[in-house]
Amino acid sequence: MAAPNVDAEYLKEIEKARRDLRALISSKTCAPIMLRLAWHDAGTYDVKTKTGGPDGSIRNQKELQHNANNGLKIAVDLCEEVKAKHPKITYADLYQLAGVVAVEVTGGPTIDFVPGRKDSSESPEEGRLPDAKQGASHLRTVFYRMGLSDKDIVALSGGHTLGRAHQERSGFDGPWTNDPLKFDNSYFVELLKGDSKGLLKLPTDKALVEDPVFRRYVELYAEVEDVFFADYAASHKKLSELGFKQR
Ligand code: HEM
Repeated sequence: MAAPNVDAEYLKEIEKARRDLRALISSKTCAPIMLRLAWHDAGTYDVKTKTGGPDGSIRNQKELQHNANNGLKIAVDLCEEVKAKHPKITYADLYQLAGVVAVEVTGGPTIDFVPGRKDSSESPEEGRLPDAKQGASHLRTVFYRMGLSDKDIVALSGGHTLGRAHQERSGFDGPWTNDPLKFDNSYFVELLKGDSKGLLKLPTDKALVEDPVFRRYVELYAEVEDVFFADYAASHKKLSELGFKQR
């Protein structure tokens, strides 16, 4: 595995932190919020200005208080336990490693993790993460700004196979699937079924079946889980490395 910018000692710490994260995420059953933390740190990236992205800035008070990040202090605080044991590891690497481990321990694909991200104390302005009340064109605007594609949008939305919405955090309520602690393709299966009692579909989730280009991927991922896993792993790696090479 190529690991630019880090020495052998740092790599060893990463492997220890990976084990600590596995134990923490299993014992606290916090895989969903850890994945959301990794995504919200990375998803602020702007490919034009090369600002935002997976740089650990989500730990800053100002950014944690952005509306989209409601509830994520829980995940930031949980990561502090691991940071205290491995102080050399940057927050940027730690949060992305937590996201990768969250997918792995819940039965999802293995995602290649390359360490070496730098931390930033500067936070991007509020409003770069997607608004769940909007539709396909908004999703494209936000993800294209990150430098991601239509396929990435659909594959990554499959992250909603884990976890749930909380009324007091986002105003939405409920899980997307019947087993929100298992990473599988059931998010797409449920999307195609339409409304089911007790399961959530955000306007942005529904946009994936309404838009013909997105829908082709939804149908494919619902049909063949292996294809979803392969595409998800590739898109997640891209998300976790936005702006990484330039730094
Ligand atoms: C939760 C919106 C994409 C992973 C949520 C919640 C909203 C939301 C409103 C509920 C938060 C709460 O009330 O606790 C969106 C929108 C997206 C998007 C509009 C645009 C496509 C993603 C992506 C991932 C992801 C790309 C990961 C790859 C998660 C997870 C949760 C979640 C795991 C559950 C958190 C928990 O159980 O605490 N998302 N999301 N989301 N999101 Fe997304």
